[in-house]
Amino acid sequence: MTDNILKQKTGTDDAPRLTLPAQWYHDPDIYERERRQIFAKEWLLFGHESMAPDPGTYIARTIAGWPLLVIRGQDGALKGFHNVCRHRASMIVEDGIGKTAALRCMYHSWVYDMDGQLKMAPGFCEDDATLCSRTKLFSIHLEIWNGLIFVCLADDAPDFKAALGDLPAVTESVDFTAFHYHDMATHTIGCNWKTYVENYSEGYHIPYVHPGLNKEVDFKTYRVVTGDKIAQHLSQPREHRKDDAINDGLWVWHWPYAALNVYRNGMNLELMVPTGPEQTTLYYYYLFKDLADKEANDRTMAMSREVTDEDRKICEIVQKNLRAGVYTQGELSPRHEGGVAYFQDLVREKVK
Ligand code: FES
Ligand SMILES: [Fe+2]
Repeated sequence: MTDNILKQKTGTDDAPRLTLPAQWYHDPDIYERERRQIFAKEWLLFGHESMAPDPGTYIARTIAGWPLLVIRGQDGALKGFHNVCRHRASMIVEDGIGKTAALRCMYHSWVYDMDGQLKMAPGFCEDDATLCSRTKLFSIHLEIWNGLIFVCLADDAPDFKAALGDLPAVTESVDFTAFHYHDMATHTIGCNWKTYVENYSEGYHIPYVHPGLNKEVDFKTYRVVTGDKIAQHLSQPREHRKDDAINDGLWVWHWPYAALNVYRNGMNLELMVPTGPEQTTLYYYYLFKDLADKEANDRTMAMSREVTDEDRKICEIVQKNLRAGVYTQGELSPRHEGGVAYFQDLVREKVK
């Protein structure tokens, strides 16, 4: 995580560092490769423990076309499944955060227990005992680190600690278990998921795209440093905003699609979820230490909405030109776009 590493990864004046080809941002074949080589194989940040606190509470979300379900069982442990019924492939529950007494499929009412075992198939045949004994939901790997839930769809999951990379090191001052889920927001954006991750991975655009944010942070001090599987934003608030800046915190992106935005009074767990070759849905989960401090919490969420609307606009404009056909590749700034370069290196390695 040094400037030297940054320089190596972003090239030099003699050897400019080029972006990924524009085609990678709309080609259905590349998208399919990313679904299978990245999202079906890597550990993915999925949520925070406080989003499913009691037995029967669940989080269901479709990530890059994979409907997934994490539910807290009667034994208090979280379990992860593909959200697909073994009968005729309906999702068991719709995407969202909720609570249920039983995992009852929405199509023909098959009922699974919270370990994924089929318990009942109403009206299927005279005696469904043997059907139940041989039928189980597809499970996925699940790990919890510092209050954060991660899942992995691969049969042989890669080492979890290695997948965290430098996330524990750069967030060592933050106790994520102290935060409590408060509210969520989704934003559907007409761009490839990489367009959005890359936009997140640099502060180069802040003075030009985010006038409000630019009043808080001192752009001269802004840097993005990369480590193993992470990119961290470093900045100082402007002198006169030292006491009241909302964004005086920690922003970290974690491979492949998650970000932890920690503010003074809370955090936003941000997932940049691919929902098509040219569509991304942002999931924002707002977590606070003090849920009663409504005024401060509302101010934080309002700031986040303002910045997101600005990012949405610029990412959709960029996406239009990535698809149009004139632009094929550009050069990345050695000073500002080390995070973009690192992300593109990881994508290239997986998709090749
Ligand atoms: S698809 Fe689930 S019960 Fe038929
Ligand atoms: Fe931005």
